Amino acid sequence: MTISPLIAGNWKMFKTCSEAVKTAKRIAELAKDITDIDIMVAPPFTAIEAVSEALLSINSRVRVGAQNLFYKSEGAYTGEISANMLKSAGVSYVIVGHSERRQYFGETDDDVRKKIGAALESNLIPVMCIGETESEKKEEKTFYVLDKQIENGLKGLRSNELGTLVIAYEPVWAIGTGNTASPNEAESVHRYIRAKIAKMFDNKLSEGIRILYGGSVKPDNISELMSHHNINGALVGGASLDPESFIKIIKYNK
Ligand code: PGA
Repeated sequence: MTISPLIAGNWKMFKTCSEAVKTAKRIAELAKDITDIDIMVAPPFTAIEAVSEALLSINSRVRVGAQNLFYKSEGAYTGEISANMLKSAGVSYVIVGHSERRQYFGETDDDVRKKIGAALESNLIPVMCIGETESEKKEEKTFYVLDKQIENGLKGLRSNELGTLVIAYEPVWAIGTGNTASPNEAESVHRYIRAKIAKMFDNKLSEGIRILYGGSVKPDNISELMSHHNINGALVGGASLDPESFIKIIKYNK
């Protein structure tokens, strides 16, 4: 099965609404001839609707993602945003369980599981982030950590519901540090993740699932990462903020 690659930009807590619209429009313009790669940008909540409208008005293939959601559909949950609210603001993808959310906001695998369920119910494509910390890596616990994150994050969900799920392997020690996992190292972890999905669910799901790599992806390391069979795209932080560098990542095969 061939998997169409996804290059996704996570803008984190950067850009005002007008800055986000300007950046998204520039990316759309630079990417207007690209048809073989799916592209997503995830602005802060305050810019989502404006960015969606701007991209829609120019018929862009660039899709909008959110960086988080809450799993309840509505209610007295001050400060939270539901899947339906995102959907109605033009969102297609939602990042779930990013390591910064796990680290600074106490997000657990149980939250991740509920959020993935809520996203799927609203027809949003969840991008589930997993990855080990530096100390877990030093203690050689990478696979143990990934097993737990995958098992608990996807517990109770059925294969036929998970057809759109994207997994992003983001070693925490590589995020924003300039230290990328070597492409071979990333490939072997991605292979492990795919096999784990086959074991937990079935071959059909595992063969079609997109597994992105994230953590200091830059224009100069993307091609080698993408040359590996099990690396189906990238979740890019810092290098997605500037359209000129993000487009080089998107055009990794040109
Ligand atoms: P980075 O962030 O590319 O700046 O390392 C990646 C991410 O956090 O998704």
